[in-house]
Amino acid sequence: MIPAKDIEKIKETARIEEVVGDYVQLRNRGSNKLGLCPFHNEKTPSFTVSPAKGIYKCFGCGKSGNSISFVMEHEQLSFPEALRQLAKKYNIELNEVQSEEAKAQRNLFESLYIINKFVQKYYSKNMLESDEGRSVGLSYFKSRGFLDVNIEKFQLGYSMDSFDHLIKAASAGKYNEDYLIKLGLIGNKNNRKYDFFRGRVMFPIHNLSGKVIAFAGRTLSSDKKVPKYVNSPESEVYYKSKILYGAYQAKSSISKLDNCYLVEGYTDVISMHQAGIENVVASSGTSLTKDQIQLIKRFTKNVTVLYDGDMAGINAAIRGTDMILEADMNVRVVLLPDGEDPDSFVQAKGAEGFSEFVQTEGKDFVFFKTKLLLEQSEGDPVKKTALIRSIVETLARIPDPIKRSLYIRECSQLLKISEQIIINETNKVKRKKVDAYNSEREKTVSAPISNSPSNPPNFPNPDIASGKTVPIPDYQAATPENRFDKQIHKLEFEFVELFLNHSEKPIAGVSSLQWTFNELEEVGLNFQHPICIKVVDLFKEKLSAGEIATDKFFLEHEDNEIMKFCSNILLNQQEVSANWAKMYQIPVKQDGASYKDRFVNLVGRFKLVHIQKLVDENQERIKNTSDPEEMGKCLQIHQTLLKYQNDLSKELGSVIIR
Ligand code: UTP
Ligand code: MN
Repeated sequence: MIPAKDIEKIKETARIEEVVGDYVQLRNRGSNKLGLCPFHNEKTPSFTVSPAKGIYKCFGCGKSGNSISFVMEHEQLSFPEALRQLAKKYNIELNEVQSEEAKAQRNLFESLYIINKFVQKYYSKNMLESDEGRSVGLSYFKSRGFLDVNIEKFQLGYSMDSFDHLIKAASAGKYNEDYLIKLGLIGNKNNRKYDFFRGRVMFPIHNLSGKVIAFAGRTLSSDKKVPKYVNSPESEVYYKSKILYGAYQAKSSISKLDNCYLVEGYTDVISMHQAGIENVVASSGTSLTKDQIQLIKRFTKNVTVLYDGDMAGINAAIRGTDMILEADMNVRVVLLPDGEDPDSFVQAKGAEGFSEFVQTEGKDFVFFKTKLLLEQSEGDPVKKTALIRSIVETLARIPDPIKRSLYIRECSQLLKISEQIIINETNKVKRKKVDAYNSEREKTVSAPISNSPSNPPNFPNPDIASGKTVPIPDYQAATPENRFDKQIHKLEFEFVELFLNHSEKPIAGVSSLQWTFNELEEVGLNFQHPICIKVVDLFKEKLSAGEIATDKFFLEHEDNEIMKFCSNILLNQQEVSANWAKMYQIPVKQDGASYKDRFVNLVGRFKLVHIQKLVDENQERIKNTSDPEEMGKCLQIHQTLLKYQNDLSKELGSVIIR
């Protein structure tokens, strides 16, 4: 644990423009600074830094945050790692308190990293400086067309054809043999120790921060009985299922180009780099895991899978790809020509030929799969039924409903089956998945976030006066994707922006924050967007302690989501008003004396949208009921709501601010 006062010190010292300035060239633009976004590829700068507020936001890709989150995001570090890095940069001494166990754990990790680094350097040295290494290892890589820069970039090496060459080197360097055994670099059978990798060319495997965590060794023998690639066993620092080969070398290119190529082999990755294509990772010949998909998703939502042309198990490969869809990512696939893998193909065609092929031959995964299976099942009704099942399985994995329905339409045309049948089948599969999921999970599940407020707002209600209770329109049954919710969320964002800027200023003798809460409470309106709820709850919490939370409180909040959301809101608003003023020569009434108007106006609009939503829901009910009594009540509600809506609109007048 890093103590709070150290974190405070880092926050005070690490000025956003300096931290960002290490990576991005910034120039002045009013009170802000502007540069090319380091998180995506752009030609005109849209990355904005506010030194006064200590935050950044990119208007291209939407990334936002403070100096700590910048380091976390840019270097892909955890919170404490980012703090340590900043502390180092600013010479701030950290008084980290750690349990003995955590300390031991960290020491172990550090020792294992040190050993791996030593061994990597040792393999490289073998290859570059020994006769055997040069004539066997280096010449092999050269024969595969690898250039020195890439041999260096990927830290390739060679393990001597000997049972104790590494053992001797480790002992000469006073490296603890136990750790080498733990990492599987030295084998230990019946107390006889031996070098694990012998006479192989070595590919170190890195974690995301560039530390060597394991090795893969390729045999140079053509004997089919010898396994082509052998990997280090799993260890405390190496979990096969959590890493992808090349991710460290690829990460910045993946986020810049917003796309990731997925290949199978080590040599594919290296050859693609050599052709200048750096956004590539390898699954190392096994099917993808959820963790690996999440790892890619940290950098992009778009994956292009390259299938080998002679892939015996293309159907099996396709099954693995289904999982990427499930993570709500966009998947394209490219089937290489017969007999080619990405390594051979890119070496033969060069970067341009490769890109052209990907452009013309790349297909959306869902359509690719559909067409492929269609070809395979031609004229065979039994196979065709299986094919439809399989497509439906794929479609059911697409989490985004809009995307899913677009795919369903296209697939129904390809398969020549009615859309409705596919929809029904897809729903069946989805239901099955949900059931399976639910039965797996215990009762400890938290309530799902509903689109509607948990307590319906108590706008005037015709029957309250007469003392009768009225059936409240059934909120759950309303259209699931209510078109008003989007608007409501937007207004909630506006509230947060106003709160961040003006919460302590007075309205009617109380703080505007308190005033707003009173107004909304009176009609029973709550916030519904999860992040706004979080922010408002924090405001309320402080308020009940007699304090008003400042923008600083939120911009430095330890909950990353809150901090990013608030930086985003604040910088966004600055940009919007600057643009408005510039484009339309309209003085935007936002600051200074008009804050009161804005609060009053916003509360009015907020109420108005909620009423419109109620009207809409009520109308839906009228449409769907055949019970005359219920119909009567609904009509009454309708009248009251309309009247309320009218009054409110008049009150708001035509002055809509913003
Ligand atoms: P390939 O057999 O396609 O090898 O296996 P490759 O990558 O093209 O290698 P070269 O070009 O012949 O040198 C694809 C990947 O499957 C894993 C490796 O990650 C390999 O890169 N693999 C393959 C193993 O882990 N063990 C093996 O025995 C074979
Ligand atoms: Mn190959």
